[in-house]
Amino acid sequence: MNTLPFHPIRAYRASLLRFDDAGRAVFDTDGLLVVDSAGKVAAAGDYASLKAQFAHLPAQHFPGRIIAPGFVDLHVHYPQIDVIGSPADGLLPWLENYTFPEEKRYVAGEYSARAATFFIAELLRNGVTTALTFATSHVASVNAMFEAADTAGLRIITGKCLQDRNCPEGVRDETESSLIDTESLIQRWHGKGSRGQLGYAITPRFAPACSDAQMRGMGALAAKYPDAWIQSHVSENVDEIAWAKELYPEDASYVSVYDRFGLLREKSIYAHCIHFDDADRALMKARSAAAAVCPTSNLFLGSGNFDFAAAQSGGMAHGLASDVGGGTSFSPFKTMLAAHYVSRSTSRSHSQAKQAVTLSPEQLWWLHTAGAAKALALEGVVGNLQIGCDADFVILNPQATPLLARRTARAESLAEMLFALIVLGDDRLIEQTHVASS
Ligand code: GUN
Ligand code: ZN
Repeated sequence: MNTLPFHPIRAYRASLLRFDDAGRAVFDTDGLLVVDSAGKVAAAGDYASLKAQFAHLPAQHFPGRIIAPGFVDLHVHYPQIDVIGSPADGLLPWLENYTFPEEKRYVAGEYSARAATFFIAELLRNGVTTALTFATSHVASVNAMFEAADTAGLRIITGKCLQDRNCPEGVRDETESSLIDTESLIQRWHGKGSRGQLGYAITPRFAPACSDAQMRGMGALAAKYPDAWIQSHVSENVDEIAWAKELYPEDASYVSVYDRFGLLREKSIYAHCIHFDDADRALMKARSAAAAVCPTSNLFLGSGNFDFAAAQSGGMAHGLASDVGGGTSFSPFKTMLAAHYVSRSTSRSHSQAKQAVTLSPEQLWWLHTAGAAKALALEGVVGNLQIGCDADFVILNPQATPLLARRTARAESLAEMLFALIVLGDDRLIEQTHVASS
């Protein structure tokens, strides 16, 4: 008799990729993944070693395929699916001319719901099973996203974007009601969903668009709800940084503005963090905050390059993110490839020499799975396939295109295989995406 509350119910056999606690890739050429009735990983490892134990479970066999953790997108904007690829001179005109006009439309629940459904389908098509996404400043946009995520059983963290100044009517909110709405939404959605997978993120758009009173109010909510996430933008673009300096002249730096208001803490994720100095990185580290690195967005908007070497040596937690619609693709393969280019680049935006760091393919993959999960304080929950993790996974087909088939057949090591997938891969590589409930 089985006395465990949850019992193994499904098994999948294929090559299997996961990560150990030190972030090293673990790969079984012929592996087995066993999922229990709660949608968690019950066993993962070499098929030959596990097959006797799970002989009663007929394994679905995927020869030639790779089972890998579902990807974690650490920063994305679901209301910007129709903004991707909009030409602009840089961040601020891009916000003004494309992003804010589009986001105004999300005042309508039906418009938001259609976009949310499309967005979730696009995440799944690209193998993304956890996302920290902005909504707009409209409550309807938050409800629509949580409802769509709940229907799909997907782990989504989102929140109402707060922006009570320096932005146009239609997206600008009002200080007091924005804080009241945020608290009601936390109470309605945080920790809810069919398996408790929905999470709330307190979401200042960025300090230049928030009044002192709004920042203070968000800091109070962050203290009252320490389990909620915080997401925002910082130090992305030189004009934005100069503007933040004008608006907050007393603060030592842009990121210390968030700190002064109590918005820098564990479970806070700041997108970009490009033009940081060592003191900024040390502050992020001291507060256990994490950076969402958005390479396709930074390249597209000409914002600058994230300094991977300095982040590593300074111990600032970071993970990868699409940042759609500043970012150009939902595909984690495109994001990892862009991160590779950036990590290799030796020119810094301030034209000083910069130490290049070569991220291995395993590191790039970790930064978009287990590493991104760690940044979210969801280590051991998502982004990996160790025992106890949510069984959120993808089945990759390395023969998905003629070129992929040809190149991966020549791979002589795990690093070569993963790099070929990163360089040549896109949504065609994702044959199936499973979330814990499916
Ligand atoms: N800073 C403030 N808002 C945004 C946004 O929507 N996208 C990006 N990339 N940066 C921002
Ligand atoms: Zn963003």
